[in-house]
Amino acid sequence: MRIAVTGRDGQVVRSLVERSAGHPGVTVIPLGRPELDLLRPETILPAIRAARPDVVVSAAAYTAVDQAEDEPAVAAAVNETGAGKVAEAAAAVGAPVIHLSTDYVYAGDGDRPYHEADPTGPRSVYGRTKLAGEVAIAAVNPHHVILRTAWVYSPFGKNFVKTMLRLAADRDTLRVVADQFGNPTSALDIADGILAVATRLGEDAPPARFGVFHLAGTGTTHWAGLAAHALESSRALGGPSARVEEIATADFPTKASRPANSRLSTDRLHDVYGWRAPDWRVSCGEVVRRLLAGRGE
Ligand SMILES: NC(=O)c1ccc[n+]([C@@H]2O[C@H](COP(=O)([O-])OP(=O)(O)OC[C@H]3O[C@@H](n4cnc5c(N)ncnc54)[C@H](OP(=O)(O)O)[C@@H]3O)[C@@H](O)[C@H]2O)c1
Repeated sequence: MRIAVTGRDGQVVRSLVERSAGHPGVTVIPLGRPELDLLRPETILPAIRAARPDVVVSAAAYTAVDQAEDEPAVAAAVNETGAGKVAEAAAAVGAPVIHLSTDYVYAGDGDRPYHEADPTGPRSVYGRTKLAGEVAIAAVNPHHVILRTAWVYSPFGKNFVKTMLRLAADRDTLRVVADQFGNPTSALDIADGILAVATRLGEDAPPARFGVFHLAGTGTTHWAGLAAHALESSRALGGPSARVEEIATADFPTKASRPANSRLSTDRLHDVYGWRAPDWRVSCGEVVRRLLAGRGE
């Protein structure tokens, strides 16, 4: 099976390349700039066609949540127009598309985990453009699997866990928000989930396999809880650690507003695909171990 994935150095792309090594018969083909540039829609179909994919994974996105508030047109061009063109190109070559979306499509004012059919209500430009991308994809390729994920960290690229370890090397105390709740998710687990989905999307896949699903780490916490667990894991391995002081969102203003509760129920993915991500604490410990061993970058 040939899986084309958009992006080259993204956390999910690199995790997918790594994890596919454990699946004989699966080849992952990253398609990144300049050959495939979501801001140059004319590059998308030729790049996807040349990859001859059985499945297309749409993992590239404009992911700078706060910066998106200042450049909504660029965020929309990538997350809405670009994502739609990727799904259209997949349809043109007869391939289903697996697209990564986000918990930030929800408003976050509920007090229970979200289910896929719950109303959306993004609070930020990033969330709105990602939701518009979902709509664009569904309009052009009926064979779509939209995976809403959350709070992604990994040994690769920029992410919250990496930042905490870096800051802990210089500071005794880190002040971290403790009133936003969600599911921390390792990109390595996302890759495993994508592979579980992709390998069940053959020509005879029933309609229930398509649509919107949540793919997120099992268990929930707040950002301070994630920081504390990462730093405790680091300390236990002889790495940097620091005290975590819990603060409120109001004490750490950001340009983009974020949902207070973006916890995701992952039952639908489990029911349809028989797959669920491991407990986030286990995956986080593993990523910290790799970061300390210098196996990320
Ligand atoms: N990070 C999170 O916390 C989070 C949370 C929820 C959902 N998600 C979603 O999960 C997916 C994967 O996220 P991630 O954390 O792996 O993202 P990431 O590490 O920020 O990587 C973004 C990827 O998008 C590519 N990209 C950006 N603009 C592009 C363009 N114009 N043309 C082609 N490629 C472009 C980047 O290209 P280069 O390889 O050239 O850098 C990179 O591969 C995204 O759809 C994101 O919205 C992420």
